[in-house]
Amino acid sequence: RPRVLSGMQPSADSLHLGNYLGALVNWVRAQDEYDSFFFIPDMHAITVPQDPAHLRMRTRMTAAQYLAGGIDVEKSTLFVQSHVPEHAQLAWVLNCITGFGEASRMTQYKDKSAKGGADTASVGLFTYPVLMAADILLYQPQGVPVGDDQRQHVELARDLATRFNHRFGQTFTVPQAFIQKEGARIYDLQNPTSKMSKSASSPNGLINIMDDPKTVAKRIKSAVTDADTVIAHDRENKPGVTNLLEILAAVSGTPIPELVSGFEGKMYGHLKVAVADAVVERLTPIRARTLELLDDPAELDRLLARGAEKARETASKTLEAVYANIGFLQQT
Ligand code: TYM
Repeated sequence: RPRVLSGMQPSADSLHLGNYLGALVNWVRAQDEYDSFFFIPDMHAITVPQDPAHLRMRTRMTAAQYLAGGIDVEKSTLFVQSHVPEHAQLAWVLNCITGFGEASRMTQYKDKSAKGGADTASVGLFTYPVLMAADILLYQPQGVPVGDDQRQHVELARDLATRFNHRFGQTFTVPQAFIQKEGARIYDLQNPTSKMSKSASSPNGLINIMDDPKTVAKRIKSAVTDADTVIAHDRENKPGVTNLLEILAAVSGTPIPELVSGFEGKMYGHLKVAVADAVVERLTPIRARTLELLDDPAELDRLLARGAEKARETASKTLEAVYANIGFLQQT
């Protein structure tokens, strides 16, 4: 079976609606068709400072949210990145075939380091996309289901795979980003020209999976729209309304044109109520199931241990080939 791999950082107390609609929904769909690997990139999380107790809690929380959102360990391999040492091992090798300039051009690094000032950015943050390439290439996947903001990172993984194969012989599958049209980029409700993100300037623009229904509804109902009253899909002139339509389309599965004609002659308030109802209905059982799973952390840890064992079977084979092809002397 063709394979996919993806992950989400455990760097906030909850995944948000962008993570859910941009990634998790597509993973759940993919696991029926693909041999699927989903993991929690805790090593990526520490590229910026993390409180150790929080990181542990958030790693379990992220795993619980994957499961509550529909990842099924009978179909998919679910694991924590730091449990599989091959990720760090392959990252080193890939660091050595990545150009300094090439890494410098990664826009997410530029954005993140610009926020805190380049002097406070860690070397880990700089080399983060190379670790991500290692995450991907270790499992030889055809596809990487992600939101639009990860496109450039998957592109780097493709470049490194091609380069390595060219220099050292066929070793890696060259992967493709699988980006779904609907939900690929969910925007901040208060600032609908920036993507929804855990580091948003105001929490009011953000919907977390773990938010209570009242908060979710309130935030959607106070989403920024615009001065006129026409419900239309127009990213340029009506980013707020367009974002709400896209959220509704992603959650309900109804195509945008159909939504737009259904709201003809109606007011923004109607659209907001429909979006709020649909999102609350979708998130409520996920939140409840997440809390249930977190009630039994030992069971969660057992699932993750089993997943890591399965993941290592594949990862160790790739690393072995890499070490041999690059000329490391084999241990006898
Ligand atoms: P992360 O943790 O920032 O985001 C996880 C997933 O959510 C998607 N996403 C969004 N989609 C739509 N709208 C948004 N506003 C939005 N915000 C986030 C992201 O595109 C992503 O799919 N570097 C990765 C984690 C990673 C990874 C990997 C992913 C590490 N190794 C290997 C795939 C393969 C990241 O920081 O995603």
